[in-house]
Amino acid sequence: MKNGKIWQDLNGNDIQAHGGCIINYGGKYYWYGENKGQDNCPGTTRVDVIGISCYSSDNLIDWKYEGLVLKSDKTDEKNPLHTSKVVERPKVLYNSKTNEFVMFLHLDNADYNFSHIGIAVCDKPDGEFELVNVCQPNNHDSQDMTVFADDDGSAYLIHTKDRDATINIDELTDDYKSFTGLHMSAMIDQYREAPAVCKYEDTYYMVTSGCTCWEANSALYSKSPDIMSDWRLIENPCVGENYRLTFNGQCSYIFKADGKYYIVLDHWIPDNLQKSGYSILPIEFENGKMTVAWKDEWLGI
Ligand code: GAL
Repeated sequence: MKNGKIWQDLNGNDIQAHGGCIINYGGKYYWYGENKGQDNCPGTTRVDVIGISCYSSDNLIDWKYEGLVLKSDKTDEKNPLHTSKVVERPKVLYNSKTNEFVMFLHLDNADYNFSHIGIAVCDKPDGEFELVNVCQPNNHDSQDMTVFADDDGSAYLIHTKDRDATINIDELTDDYKSFTGLHMSAMIDQYREAPAVCKYEDTYYMVTSGCTCWEANSALYSKSPDIMSDWRLIENPCVGENYRLTFNGQCSYIFKADGKYYIVLDHWIPDNLQKSGYSILPIEFENGKMTVAWKDEWLGI
């Protein structure tokens, strides 16, 4: 699969999984993302909400479309999933205590002034998710976001607040459907977004982008010995041609497969979002330094 381009599923259709995440469950990979599979609304850089797609794969190359696991609402303009809204960056965690899959979403109005989190649950990875909570975590506005589950089962929502000025980290309750109240701010007033988090050898790493809407900018990573304190911005992890613009991409997620870490990028095409491409690139860690080098092709594992 050519990195940076739109990819196709096993039926030959464009994969519609933008701003998404890849999880491993029961020996399979599941890829969730925004389905943007229709024309932009005329003269804008948005598409009406269709819903969240799910794809499954054994090798991270051959993706079977499992359908829309969360559908937009076509009738009630007050519903946060109404087609006229914004539903972005779905991230899914499996909760082994409740045996549920919990999906987190950025829910917004078309003008991005609602800034809430949506939490949806399902008892299967590829079933129909039900929206069970719409809130502002610990009363803070929330836009771009990701989630991270630690080795001890604790899990966190990592999101922008104060209109993207600052990243907040909020601990989730045991069932992942709400917040414990424990939260902290990182990278205060640094205007970073599109967070993606992983843990390597007891250090937490967070890749973020700058805030230039759909246009590419420089990724930066930060690290911390503790998820709840001491985050420090380090530098751009990208190396090689076009590293300054994150290879014309924006981070959406970091996943682990066969003991190695990979970053998923979106390559947005603002005036035709449905054709936005993807890339998956390996992450290297050496002496506490994170690097991501461009590869023309994603060959799976
Ligand atoms: C990006 C953000 C996307 C989307 C877009 C809208 O910066 O990462 O998820 O919200 O802005 O302009």
